[in-house]
Amino acid sequence: MRRFTEEELTQEQVVALMKAALMAPSSKRSTPWQFIVVDDKELLLQLSLCKAQGSQFLADAPLAVVVAADPLASDVWIEDASIAAIYVQLQAEDLGLGSCWVQVRERYTQTGIPSDDYVHNVLNLPLQLQTVCIIAVGHKGMERKPFNEEFLQWEKIHLNRYQEGGQE
Ligand SMILES: Cc1cc2nc3c(=O)[nH]c(=O)nc-3n(C[C@H](O)[C@H](O)[C@H](O)COP(=O)(O)O)c2cc1C
Repeated sequence: MRRFTEEELTQEQVVALMKAALMAPSSKRSTPWQFIVVDDKELLLQLSLCKAQGSQFLADAPLAVVVAADPLASDVWIEDASIAAIYVQLQAEDLGLGSCWVQVRERYTQTGIPSDDYVHNVLNLPLQLQTVCIIAVGHKGMERKPFNEEFLQWEKIHLNRYQEGGQE
């Protein structure tokens, strides 16, 4: 969901989202992540410019959850942070809210600055953290059809051994 209504989230909703994030599994329970919950309009506007494209809708989201992690705290920090981010998205859906992942890691601003550096600057993040993504969350601003199961790529599912073209 990339379009949201102007309705703010309640404190209970935000707490539920963060609870889900903090309950996400992490390798060896190293919990290398940090979550920055952003509801300040000016900061949301600044974050919306963290990439050349694919991040602009953050400006009109009531909430953004910036997911960052410390690579020195775990060798699988990307997996841990990604799983926690998805937990936030699943919890949002369970609350009847919409969300969208905005990729930050390995991305660049319009002017060629690494998006991670840009986000560090906007949010005053400590140097050891790396931003993985930003999850935009809000009340759904449009109808979206459920996934059309006709387009499921069953050929990507393999039983026991890999078979070119998938299972017969
Ligand atoms: C790792 C990852 C990175 C993504 N990055 C972005 C992004 O930067 N901007 C965006 O609008 N959507 C992003 N998405 C959302 C995907 O585009 C979306 O899940 C996919 O296209 C299916 O949704 P759709 O039907 O709306 O296209 C990302 C999703 C994943 C899993």
